[in-house]
This record gives sequence, structure tokens and C-alpha cells, in this order.
Amino acid sequence: MLILFLFVLYQSIKGRQEDKMTETLVNVGLDERSYPIIIRSGVLADIGSDLRQRKIGTKYGIIADDTVAKLYGKQCMQSLQAAGIQAELIIFSHGEVNKTMATVATLASELAQQGFDRSDALIALGGGVTGDITGFLAAIYMRGIPFVQVPTTLLSQVDSSVGGKTGVDLPEGKNLVGVFYQPKIVYIDTDVLHTLPLDELRGGLAEVIKYGVIHDADFFSFLAQEREAVFALQQDTLTRLIARCCEIKAWVVEQDEREGGLRRILNFGHTIGHAVEAASDFQLIHGKAVAIGMCAVADLAVRTGHLQEGDAQAIKKLIEQYELPITIPTDLDRKVIKKYLLNDKKTVAGRVFYVLPQGIGKVMITDQVSQDAVDAVIACSGC
Ligand code: NAD
Ligand code: GLY
Repeated sequence: MLILFLFVLYQSIKGRQEDKMTETLVNVGLDERSYPIIIRSGVLADIGSDLRQRKIGTKYGIIADDTVAKLYGKQCMQSLQAAGIQAELIIFSHGEVNKTMATVATLASELAQQGFDRSDALIALGGGVTGDITGFLAAIYMRGIPFVQVPTTLLSQVDSSVGGKTGVDLPEGKNLVGVFYQPKIVYIDTDVLHTLPLDELRGGLAEVIKYGVIHDADFFSFLAQEREAVFALQQDTLTRLIARCCEIKAWVVEQDEREGGLRRILNFGHTIGHAVEAASDFQLIHGKAVAIGMCAVADLAVRTGHLQEGDAQAIKKLIEQYELPITIPTDLDRKVIKKYLLNDKKTVAGRVFYVLPQGIGKVMITDQVSQDAVDAVIACSGC
């Protein structure tokens, strides 16, 4: 009996070790601010034991929106508690409309009331909204405490959890207040994507396609071939896809952490996308707005002589293949979009920078785009 028990125990430990061996690791190399991205099915359950070894904080505030808290809050709490780490789950209402200074102020008060001090740390458990809010909160609470990213949407797994951009929106525009503040580690559990609404998955796929266009033609082709496996959430395909996006993002951020130049390529599709998102009163989710923005700048690149029409068509085809919109909805007021474009935080001294594709896998950054060309693209999108 004892031998049987020991055998079962051995098999279970061996199984878990083998699972861990199949995890994919991407490093973000930023000297003393470097950190690992661990990508693995089921990693959420092991966060506690991993954090115990890393000693990032004494006590952890797990920040989650109400939806994610219901789905994964308990599992995350249990993982920490099982490892002997004290943790509190702190919840805010989901949605971009709550990515505000007011939410940050409320969460900061809750941390203070619960006795969080400079030895403690935060965990962002959720999508990009939670990650941006939590990172910003961590950067300013008691003048800065460490934080960990546990992204639960595809968008946050491939983009927002990596690179240290944190912040909130103002009524005047998106992400207008924030800081660069890197997490200590990013844990990506591919299993959580099984509860993600299909529309949110599609939104994340817009950011995935972005990486193919800006840097990796082979990845672009991989996406064209693997569409079915992606929508079926096939483990190997997902891991490969997420890891490649994180590698490209890390490569960019390592060279230009604070967006002085190269990092702007990550905004491909975002300048017009953000304006469309804001003009829709955030009814259009971020990823869909980015998809529209990528098609609009592809048109802009053709119009200004930087891109072949065939490549613009290939970009739109892939975006459509992933069930994303390619034109600005007809009911959105073009004047309002233009107003938001000029308010974009990437505007420097009134100049708007555009990331124009020059082919698949290659982009350029320029502020030398005439307003007439932009107006024409916005006016013609969908007509
Ligand atoms: P989100 O955080 O609002 O998540 C979308 C919705 O999905 C929410 O309602 C959430 O509750 C729900 N959800 C999250 N995970 C889930 C899961 N596993 N199962 C079921 N439901 C789940 O939005 P998002 O699309 O993840 O992120 C968009 C935000 O990210 C925007 O605010 C954008 O500005 C920001 N962003 C930041 C960066 C950056 O570098 N910091 C980059 C890109 C985008
Ligand atoms: N998502 C754009 C950036 O991180 O720079």
C-alpha cells in the first residue's frame, strides 16, 4: 500500500515537473529592471509557490475587475495562501470607462485601509484595463511598490502586460495620464482564454496581427495558415503565437523603453484606432478599433506611395479572416474622430506620428503625412 502511494505521488510530482518543462520563457532585458515572462497552461495555480521563491512582496493585493474576480480571484488567492503568502482580493468594476483616476484613487484608499505598505506588492489579475490601472497604482502607491502581471485576455497576454506602459484615461482622451513602470514578472496562463468572450479574443488577435505586419512576415503567414487552430484555442499554436508576440515586444522595448523612437512601431494602427475608439464612446472594443486603424493606415501608406496596393489588401484579408472590422463604422462622426486624432498623446507639438507599413514585416514612422491624405482616408473608409 505504501509503495503504491509513493508511486502515485512520484508520478504526480513527475507529471507536474514535465508540465513545467513545457513552459515557454521570454526575457525582457532591461538591466536591473529585467523580468521573465512565463507562458504555460495552468501557471495560475502555481503563482504562489513561484512568488514565494522570488520574494517580490510580503503581502499581495490582487487587483481584478468584477468579472475576472468571479472567474479566477479565488484560484489566485488560494495559490498564494497555499504557499503561505498573505493576499487580499481587491475588486473594481470592469470596463474601459473605469480606467480612470477615480478608480485608482479608490483602490489606493482600499490598500491604505488594509494596511499595505512599501514591503508589499500588487498583482494585476485581468485584461489590459486591470494591468494599466494596477501598474499605475503600483507606481504611485507609497511612491512605488512592485507589481506582477497576470494577464487574462489575449490582448493583455500579447501586448499590454509587457513593456511597462501603465496609466488611465481622461475625458479628453485615452491613456493621457500614466508612467513607464515595469512589472517584476509576467505569468501567462493560456487556459484562461477558454472563458474569454469570442469578441474579446478577436480584439486580441488584432494586436497579434500587428506584430506580423510591423516585424515578422513569417509570423504573418503563420497566422494566415493557423486561423482554425487559433480559434480552436489549440494549446501549441496559442503558446507559439503568444511567445512570438512577447519576443517581438521585448525586442522593441529593450531598445526603446520610453518610446523615444522605435517603440512607436507598436502603435501601428493605434493612432487612428484610438480616435475611432474614443469617437465610438468606447462602444468599439480596443482591438477592433486597432483593426480598423491598421486598415486605415494601410490605405494611408498606399495613398502616400509607401505601400503596394497588394500588401494593403493582404493586411485587410488577414484582419477579415480573423473576423475583425476593416472600415470605420458609417455612424461615427468623422469630425469627432479628427478631434481625437489631434488630442492623441503621441502628438508632439501638434504633429501626429503615423506608423506606415512599407510591406509585410516592415514599417516606417513619419510625421510627414498631409492632413488632406488623412482626411481622405477617414472620409473614404467604408465608402
Ligand atoms: P479589458 O481589461 O477591459 O478586458 C476585456 C473584458 O474581458 C473585461 O470585461 C474583462 O472583465 C473580461 N475578461 C478578462 N479576462 C477574461 C477571461 N479570461 N475570461 C472572461 N472574461 C475576461 O480589456 P483588454 O482588451 O484586455 O485591454 C484593453 C486595454 O488595454 C485598453 O485600456 C488599452 O488602452 C490597454 N492597452 C495597454 C497597452 C500597454 O502597453 N499598457 C497596450 C495595449 C492595450
Ligand atoms: N502597446 C504599445 C506599447 O506598449 O508601446
